[in-house]
Amino acid sequence: MSLLEVAGLTAGYGRTTVLRGIELAVDEGETLFIAGPNGAGKSTLLKTIAGVVRPTAGAIRLAGQEIASLAPEVIARLGFSLVPEGRDCFAGLTVEENLKLAGGLRPSASDAAAELTVVYDLFPVLRERRSIPAGLLSGGQQQMLVIGRALMTGSRLVAIDEPSLGLAPNIVDQVYESLALLREKEGLSLLIVEQSTVRASMMGGRLVLLRNGEIALSGDAVALSQGTALRDAYFGYEGAA
Ligand SMILES: Nc1ncnc2c1ncn2[C@@H]1O[C@H](COP(=O)(O)OP(=O)(O)OP(=O)(O)O)[C@@H](O)[C@H]1O
Ligand SMILES: [Mg+2]
Repeated sequence: MSLLEVAGLTAGYGRTTVLRGIELAVDEGETLFIAGPNGAGKSTLLKTIAGVVRPTAGAIRLAGQEIASLAPEVIARLGFSLVPEGRDCFAGLTVEENLKLAGGLRPSASDAAAELTVVYDLFPVLRERRSIPAGLLSGGQQQMLVIGRALMTGSRLVAIDEPSLGLAPNIVDQVYESLALLREKEGLSLLIVEQSTVRASMMGGRLVLLRNGEIALSGDAVALSQGTALRDAYFGYEGAA
């Protein structure tokens, strides 16, 4: 059984259908990248799994439990944490307050304290700046903070919508290095929306290409980044797999 299973998922906004018949699975400790053009439905897919957008058909199972009709906070407590596009943190609260607030979702306070150490070890700059308002962090540091917050919830599956958006390449490297470390050390499962297939192949894992709300192609990230099938499918060339 996969940690996350999505089957025949259809969802959208009002009468507009955005996602059609999505099938995917994420195993324990696995990374799945979601690539695709702007407007393909990548963010909508993450929001639907998180319970923010309601599916109109299909199933979403987290560790075997059907979550498609549950409220976002219930899904979060079951172990799915979403870092949305835009890196919103509580700007007026300190770095540590932001982290502790997310840790409050955990049943045990000592678990939250241990996780705080894990997050600070992973992103030492957050430890250094723990007492300053989150709004004063740089963009890259805020990205680390929102990822740190997702970790504080103790989720086994963390979804991140475009971790590289608007960040300098060296900061993106740093964020991905931290994510790879987490995957190794904690066996965390990751679902990452990433436009750059080069980034995806550097980190390794599986990749699905979403186009017009459907999965146009899926496979090993490294293998896909080497051939032309991915580029063909991305642009919707005739004959693409
Ligand atoms: N809140 C909303 N209400 C109505 N339509 C929306 C809403 N959010 C997104 N859409 C539409 O759903 C489609 C998919 O949007 P989505 O944000 O999921 O795409 P995306 O693949 O994440 O794109 P990007 O790469 O630009 O982030 C688009 O046509 C978009 O206009
Ligand atoms: Mg998006």
